Amino acid sequence: MLASCALFFLGSTDAKLDTISANQTIKDGETIVSYGGMYELGFFSPGKSKNRYLGIWFKKISKGTVVWVANREIPITDKSGMLKLNKDGNLIILNGNGTMIWSSKSNSIVSMSDNTVVEVQLLDTGNLVVWEKSSRNESVIWQSFDYPSDTLLPGMKFGKNLVTGRQSALTSWKSPDDPSSGLYLHTLNVNGYPQLFEIQGSILLWRFGPWNGRSFQGLPLENPNPYYSVHFVSNEEEIYFKYEPKTSVVQRILVMPDYTTMHLLWFDQIKDWVVYSTATSKDRCRYGLCGPYGSCNINRYPPCKCLVGFKPQVPDEWDRVNGSSGCERNQALDCGNGDGFKKISGVIFPDTQRSWYNQSMSLEECERVCRRNCNCTAYANSNITNGGSGCLLWFDELIDITEYDEKQDLYIKLAASELLGTHSPFLI
Ligand SMILES: *[C@@H]1O[C@H](CO)[C@@H](O)[C@H](O)[C@H]1NC(C)=O
Ligand SMILES: *[C@@H]1O[C@H](CO)[C@@H](O)[C@H](O)[C@H]1NC(C)=O
Ligand SMILES: *[C@@H]1O[C@H](CO)[C@@H](O)[C@H](O)[C@H]1NC(C)=O
Ligand SMILES: *[C@@H]1O[C@H](CO)[C@@H](O)[C@H](O)[C@H]1NC(C)=O
Ligand SMILES: *[C@@H]1O[C@H](CO)[C@@H](O)[C@H](O)[C@H]1NC(C)=O
Ligand SMILES: *[C@@H]1O[C@H](CO)[C@@H](O)[C@H](O)[C@H]1NC(C)=O
Ligand SMILES: *[C@@H]1O[C@H](CO)[C@@H](O)[C@H](O)[C@H]1NC(C)=O
Repeated sequence: MLASCALFFLGSTDAKLDTISANQTIKDGETIVSYGGMYELGFFSPGKSKNRYLGIWFKKISKGTVVWVANREIPITDKSGMLKLNKDGNLIILNGNGTMIWSSKSNSIVSMSDNTVVEVQLLDTGNLVVWEKSSRNESVIWQSFDYPSDTLLPGMKFGKNLVTGRQSALTSWKSPDDPSSGLYLHTLNVNGYPQLFEIQGSILLWRFGPWNGRSFQGLPLENPNPYYSVHFVSNEEEIYFKYEPKTSVVQRILVMPDYTTMHLLWFDQIKDWVVYSTATSKDRCRYGLCGPYGSCNINRYPPCKCLVGFKPQVPDEWDRVNGSSGCERNQALDCGNGDGFKKISGVIFPDTQRSWYNQSMSLEECERVCRRNCNCTAYANSNITNGGSGCLLWFDELIDITEYDEKQDLYIKLAASELLGTHSPFLI
């Protein structure tokens, strides 16, 4: 099933080098191959299409599995295409008319001295890199790993560079015959505490909960596992996660045209990709379906309930299975010593876009801060490894809580009278 979605005919000629230099070109039919022979770069036609695209695919294994496409949105309609490295370090694709249809928009060269040269190299990791080299220095001025298509390869940083503002995003192909971008964009949103989003245009459709030190809440990601390790990095320059293989098993994460995301492993014995894990938004609650302080479970009818201590804001509307205006408190907070916290488990945390966090605070300190700030609505440990650490605080309405088998506790601020065992019909 997977193989059929990426097979195509190459008709490529032999290539020995992994590098092209300034003014050199790769014509349709020519390719370059990475040093270890794992990847190949050239023009191809996907599926039943006759259009030509510049891409990178596996060479050693699984011939025809494309991992990256340059001119996704603008195909070349015949075999007259050409890839060229300009002397300023820009990688460009020209059609038969000599019209530029794609450019890497590489960072400009720092020092254009006589002995500065540019070079593009296909690495054995699948990364296409534009180097700027002088006798004293060499630096990367562009790399394909910064611009993934539908595939996340080991070592790719997926997140946001806070210095340049560049945000990585994955989008599926439209179909096996058409690599242009599908509707939904997968990104790591770094507003507040980082979380994975699936967006369409500017609309947030689905949210996968925040990183909890082990995995992203709500993602069936086994960590640790025998095949790869996940690394989450957050500092002043960048926030990203990446995965690194623990074995020699070749692997990739792929967003399919049907919006399923799969982690695939290549098993040489059977010469095929095997699905190691999948995630899909299809069986999940749409973002904010149950409104503020609502709790969603797509397998229940109706899917929405109010959190303990809250009641539907518009009861009539709620009865008609429309929880969009959400829930409100049974009892207002008094913003003093009268308030307390109710622990709930088994949920994906509410949206953390406007949350605040500190990785070194304890749960006790976290509670104290939340208690003291009248606007604080909930707190939790940000990191569940080693018994829990870090502090995550919410300061506004809690939205998009999904019931899920998560073992991470959330403490919701309620009026003291709510904590005395009074029962709401909407208890979760
Ligand atoms: C590249 O081509 C341009 C235009 O033909 C020429 O001026 C330049 O000298 C060439 N550069 C190299 C490094 O060959
Ligand atoms: C080349 O230009 C002509 C006239 O503008 C156009 O009709 C044709 O489609 C172009 N060919 C390619 C390969 O873009
Ligand atoms: C090498 O280039 C990088 C990136 O342009 C720069 O940050 C660094 O200072 C340079 N190092 C030297 C020794 O020139
Ligand atoms: C989570 O906690 C573990 C163990 O204390 C620590 O090694 C890791 O760096 C923490 N992760 C984050 C993102 O703070
Ligand atoms: C749900 O309620 C919202 C706001 O009152 C309204 O705009 C929407 O049309 C309703 N949806 C349904 C399916 O009734
Ligand atoms: C995080 O919490 C620690 C421990 O309470 C504190 O020393 C540190 O200043 C806090 N950092 C920020 C950025 O608030
Ligand atoms: C609480 O929120 C209100 C309204 O947004 C704001 O004016 C006030 O400064 C906030 N108080 C604290 C302690 O953050």
